[in-house]
Amino acid sequence: MATMESLIVTVNRIQRACTVLGDHGGDTNLPTLWEALPSVVVVGGQSSGKSSVLESIVGRDFLPRGSGIVTRRPLVLQLHKTERGLQEYGEFLHLPKKKITDFSMVRKEIQDETDRMTGKSKQISPVPIHLSIYSPNVVNLTLIDLPGLTKVAVEGQPESIVQDIEIMVRSYVEKPNCIILAITPANQDIATSDAMKLSREVDPTGERTFGVLTKLDLMDKGTNAIDVLEGRAYPLQHPWVGIVNRSQADIKKNVDMIASRRKEREFFASSPDYGHLASKMGSEYLAKVLSKHLESVIRARLPGITSLINKSIEELEAELSHLGRSVAVDAGAQLYTILELCRAFDRIFKEHLDGGRPGGDR
Ligand code: GDP
Ligand code: NA
Ligand code: MG
Repeated sequence: MATMESLIVTVNRIQRACTVLGDHGGDTNLPTLWEALPSVVVVGGQSSGKSSVLESIVGRDFLPRGSGIVTRRPLVLQLHKTERGLQEYGEFLHLPKKKITDFSMVRKEIQDETDRMTGKSKQISPVPIHLSIYSPNVVNLTLIDLPGLTKVAVEGQPESIVQDIEIMVRSYVEKPNCIILAITPANQDIATSDAMKLSREVDPTGERTFGVLTKLDLMDKGTNAIDVLEGRAYPLQHPWVGIVNRSQADIKKNVDMIASRRKEREFFASSPDYGHLASKMGSEYLAKVLSKHLESVIRARLPGITSLINKSIEELEAELSHLGRSVAVDAGAQLYTILELCRAFDRIFKEHLDGGRPGGDR
């Protein structure tokens, strides 16, 4: 029964449609609906490996990354699983109907669109870039890449940037629907990890935080992160996942994603320290754990989401019937799309319920 998956797909689409709509939701509950739907946010210090982890989860090379402050606007990344054999492509909200199959062009567009908003300076902007990726090789997830937390402004940046970034990151991780991917590099003191500090503050029980330890390959010889990975040093409700991303040298050499995943698998399988944990380490495992968790969160929230959606259907119908000069035509079309999606959700949800009972065909 693929209906749970269809529910997640529909939830994903509603989320996307709500973002297209922006502030044109009128008197509806759409902002609340958006917040009822879970998404995954990466949090961590600058150059901790956030963008690299996201790329690994997607299994494609497409994000700007490197040393220093590379990610300067939030990137809302929606992954849509498509049927086997179909071509992968990316599509930006600001370039509707333009399917980009060359992922280096996706990266370039993220860079250009960042610069369009911030200038070529190292300034940041809280205005998100929305990107959807359609691929047979992804799991249905919404991931959000954020600028890294930092302690000092660099040349050309205003002093306020440190605080501005923290405020921006907080605005995402505070929301109860946010699943936090707290990224800490293993070659730094974990006790001072920005990711752990912030996630503990907003999620003290650790129920929506996944601890991710990157750069395990860069630890000093003779040291290891077993105490962290086995959950003794910094216990969280979910198990820690260790990761080995591409190094800057790998990136320069154009080591591709398949090779880098293989390298990561080999790293764990052949490691005297981590060999016994190998099946629960690495980016592919992290992607699986996340999508499973997302599914269970949606399952638990289903009653709430369903009643919100039903409320939204009523509100949208009312909103649409009152649609006059005050609402842009585009917004009207978008409201209609959301309405259709909400109806689809409702239909799939009812099938889901019926499918759960033998002979249940009301
Ligand atoms: P972000 O600033 O947190 O988004 O970090 P990036 O993903 O841009 O990575 C910063 C730099 O660290 C890049 O040069 C990456 O190649 C490198 N890097 C990230 N993760 C790892 C890792 O697990 N091992 C190694 N050796 N390098 C990594
Ligand atoms: Na970086
Ligand atoms: Mg980044």
